Amino acid sequence: MMEITSPGKIILFGEHAVVYGKPAIAAPVNSLTTNVKLKETDDEISKIIVPDKSLTPEERNRLEELVELMKKELDIKDNFHITIDSSIPISSGMGSSASLCVSIAKSLFLHKNNSVDVDELSKLALIGEKIFHGNPSGIDTNVISYNQTLFFQKKKKNEFIKIKKPLNILIADSGIKGSTKRAVSLVKKKYEENKIIYSKIFDDMEKISIVSKKAIEEGDIEKLGRMMTLNHALLKMIGVTNEKLDYMFSSAIDYGAYGAKISGAGMGGNIIALVKEEDIENITEALRENGAVHVYHTVIK
Ligand code: MEV
Repeated sequence: MMEITSPGKIILFGEHAVVYGKPAIAAPVNSLTTNVKLKETDDEISKIIVPDKSLTPEERNRLEELVELMKKELDIKDNFHITIDSSIPISSGMGSSASLCVSIAKSLFLHKNNSVDVDELSKLALIGEKIFHGNPSGIDTNVISYNQTLFFQKKKKNEFIKIKKPLNILIADSGIKGSTKRAVSLVKKKYEENKIIYSKIFDDMEKISIVSKKAIEEGDIEKLGRMMTLNHALLKMIGVTNEKLDYMFSSAIDYGAYGAKISGAGMGGNIIALVKEEDIENITEALRENGAVHVYHTVIK
């Protein structure tokens, strides 16, 4: 039997712009994980087992499609019982589908070759993620495959970021399910209608990602916070925030966060806030009072 665990993720800067070829920054979240157990079987077909959750027929079909697609890519003829156990909230912008794709891909690679090339892993996981999201940029599957903070740009080599000072991040889940596919296609529609303005916003998001990479490397936490808040304003402009997310954002700022923003596709999902260690408790409380159903603390280092 093979057992693989992969982290969740947050996008620190540049979501949506990254779909249009701009750079973005993402970090793994190792306190939220997807665990996959792969057991070979003589059965005629592979079977997906998700303890403690009843899957809708559509969810089951999608997972079976994912496994068959990956098996085909790797030319694997064996069948498996695949048990999935995840602590990453679904449709919350924390990478649940990418983490699942990476875990299944990794277990299949190991079954086949006894080894994994991380580049190949992230490529296969991305093929799988297309079943969930249509046109993903690849940032989620990359950051989770490498399990390192990443400056990512489509068609460019990954740059791994050296973090000078640990970043205390609170992730506040709004409890509103956000569909990445829907958010990405909404932004695409608006972009098509208004290319000049949207391109300019994506250019500004690119500048924010570049400035922020340097701020992370230099340990300039205050600047990083300001960049997050600026990035949030641009995400609001392209229409992927909502009232509850904005409310949570404001409460984090009011209670002294260095900066905050939505993270991931938006229109639901989560906001992240960069905070001082001594403010963690207060800001967590404020986020809860302002609608967060869960607040997770993670340290990016
Ligand atoms: C999702 O985590 C980030 C988006 O930019 C979509 C993508 O990059 O595929 C919204």
